[in-house]
Amino acid sequence: MNESEIRNLLNDLNLSEIKYFESISSTNTAALEMAENGAADFGLVIANNQTAGRGRFNRRWVTNPDSALAFSLILRPNILEIEHLGLFSPLGALAVCDGLSQLGLTGQIKWPNDVLLNHKKVCGILAESVWLGSQVQAVVIGIGVNVAPDSVPPTDQLLFPATSVEGVLQSPVNRYHLLKDILRALCLRRAHLLDPGFLKDWNERLAFRGKQVRLKRVDEEKGLIGKVVGIDPNGNLLLLGHDGKILNIAVGEIHLRPESEGENDSLGGCAC
Ligand code: BTN
Repeated sequence: MNESEIRNLLNDLNLSEIKYFESISSTNTAALEMAENGAADFGLVIANNQTAGRGRFNRRWVTNPDSALAFSLILRPNILEIEHLGLFSPLGALAVCDGLSQLGLTGQIKWPNDVLLNHKKVCGILAESVWLGSQVQAVVIGIGVNVAPDSVPPTDQLLFPATSVEGVLQSPVNRYHLLKDILRALCLRRAHLLDPGFLKDWNERLAFRGKQVRLKRVDEEKGLIGKVVGIDPNGNLLLLGHDGKILNIAVGEIHLRPESEGENDSLGGCAC
């Protein structure tokens, strides 16, 4: 699809603006700049190719041309949302799961917000904020989805096993139709961000529930091992430790890895 076809397709979503780039360093960087310059709520930056895509933990995120979705949404949190900024990443993850379900696929969310298909990463999310003093002015939700098989980096560059939507479906997918489904879902779910149903849906999609995982900070060697119990109302991960106590883990510079099936510490996100 070319730019004008994409604009036509997304026309009825009431996006405040659409900035399309054939190639850009990072849609998140562009969206943050637009937000700093006053861009309105629900503006979209989308690119066919990113030359310096960014992931969590300052990792690189590879976006090859014509094969993936790479987009960033500018949101202006309202007075209620501003108290719950940590929910914007899972909002993106749930919206991606909704989009995938339109294709008959069941996505799972690796806490806090990676989306998995068949236990492999298919989507990464990077939420960043624009601040004015101590006040958040805007949140940018950056979403990268591996759509075609060649959007998946070579295995030796991966820290966590990765897959693509078409690889799982074994059939071609129009990535912009998937984008539209994700954006529509995000808009609908945002209206219920603070409802109990949001946490319930996040919990239902949670990957590795009941499984042993290892949580590690970026600079940590060993980290913490426990069984995934669920997510609490603050978005914290509940982990059952060896001593039978429930630990409450806040989102931060933390990686989550399955601890079984001989997988080792070198596994990481699709951001590489
Ligand atoms: C991660 O898994 O670490 C998050 C990856 C987020 C990648 C997306 S692609 C669109 C947007 N622009 C970026 O530079 N990053 C996000």
